[in-house]
Amino acid sequence: MAISACTDRCKWTLLCSVFVLFIALGPCDADTPNATFYQATCPQATSIVKKMVGKLVSADRIFAGAFIRLHFHDCWVRGCDGSVLLNTTSNNVAERDGHGNFELRGVPEIDDIKYAVEAACPGVVSCADIVALAARDAVVKVGGPSWPVLLGRRDGVVSSADEANVNLPFPVLNFKQLVQNFAVKNFSAREMVVLSGAHTIGRTTCNGVAPHLYNFTGVEDLTDPTLDKTFAKKLKKQCPKGNRNNTLRLDSTAGKFDRFYYKNVISNKGIFITDAALITDPVGEQLVASFSRKKSTFFDEFSAAMVKMGNLELLTGTEGEIRQHCQFVNTNP
Ligand code: HEM
Ligand SMILES: *[C@@H]1O[C@H](CO)[C@@H](O)[C@H](O)[C@H]1NC(C)=O
Ligand SMILES: *[C@@H]1O[C@H](CO)[C@@H](O)[C@H](O)[C@H]1NC(C)=O
Ligand SMILES: *[C@@H]1O[C@H](CO)[C@@H](O)[C@H](O)[C@H]1NC(C)=O
Ligand SMILES: *[C@@H]1O[C@H](CO)[C@@H](O)[C@H](O)[C@H]1NC(C)=O
Ligand SMILES: *[C@@H]1O[C@H](CO)[C@@H](O)[C@H](O)[C@H]1NC(C)=O
Repeated sequence: MAISACTDRCKWTLLCSVFVLFIALGPCDADTPNATFYQATCPQATSIVKKMVGKLVSADRIFAGAFIRLHFHDCWVRGCDGSVLLNTTSNNVAERDGHGNFELRGVPEIDDIKYAVEAACPGVVSCADIVALAARDAVVKVGGPSWPVLLGRRDGVVSSADEANVNLPFPVLNFKQLVQNFAVKNFSAREMVVLSGAHTIGRTTCNGVAPHLYNFTGVEDLTDPTLDKTFAKKLKKQCPKGNRNNTLRLDSTAGKFDRFYYKNVISNKGIFITDAALITDPVGEQLVASFSRKKSTFFDEFSAAMVKMGNLELLTGTEGEIRQHCQFVNTNP
């Protein structure tokens, strides 16, 4: 029915319906993530996270890497719902135990933060939000850019190693495969190159580096021929063939969030196959060169990409739950 055909009374009814609908939807809108989500219910949450992350990272700057990898791996599988924190149970192999989560760090530390937050305001703040805040606070603490973290994510109750294996990028992908992996999440090649810049902090085990040194393109004993010879020699000393557990720093300044990752990659010192792969494509190479320069847009673009990542496929409103313990789903009362 066209509005022009309405009587006055009819118009009022229509207007009223729109108004009532607005009121009805109002509370739903308030449930969508926003920057002040816990202001009324747990105003201390953000400062508790910041303080505890600050303490951990001051004691061990390399550890900053743990939180941002955790956030990435959380968001890349079922969205940012804290599912990466869940423990394997007797009838389910959790995300955490997928191959892509090899040597994932930070889970017990997130637990500690959660206990402190629960002590202040029980049952209010999600584990997924704590991970998102910790990633941002850790990066800031080691000199990286900041970004706004919207809050109000709910925690998921499903976690699957198979899904982790399907979604997480393995450190043997070539440029095209990397672009494809990020495209699945609606991220551009440019955003993929920007986010790879997170490898400016943190550490790796030899497990991640071994294919680059001893199994390039799946060929036994082949080292990536483009890898800087001196750098390759140094890596092989740190990671003798067959060793999976030794740890090494991700870049030359792994306790500081800076542009050195790109400088290393452009000089053929990318640590994983996937880092070196960024300059095997002309567009990637040009981006890496540009982000390696002083006053590049790396920090700004990194922040924007982290905001986008942090909002992937969120559970909101009454979806999921607010987990009591980050490693376990709540048991029904
Ligand atoms: C582009 C595809 C990516 C691949 C193939 C990849 C692969 C890896 C691997 C193999 C490790 C070492 C794991 C081990 O200890 O053995 C690692 C560590 C790390 N990754 Fe990535 N990654 C990728 C993208 C990202 C992104 C997008 C971020 C964050 C925005 C990120 C952040 C980190 C950090 C900070 C570490 C160090 C973790 C720590 O210190 O515990 N990575 N990554
Ligand atoms: C943010 O979310 C909270 C909790 O649902 C709500 O009370 C508040 O009004 C929202 N704030 C904004 C600016 O939307
Ligand atoms: C979770 O699982 C790991 C094994 O992957 C185990 O060592 C750990 O104790 C479990 N965490 C808790 C809180 O039970
Ligand atoms: C990517 O975008 C498409 C189209 O807008 C959408 O259907 C899909 O859910 C998005 N994927 C993710 C992971 O957000
Ligand atoms: C080398 O790579 C191939 C192909 O990805 C794989 O099948 C093989 O198991 C790898 N070898 C080692 C020693 O990791
Ligand atoms: C390497 O680490 C794995 C997993 O943490 C462990 O099971 C294995 O025993 C370690 N191997 C050596 C040689 O230390």
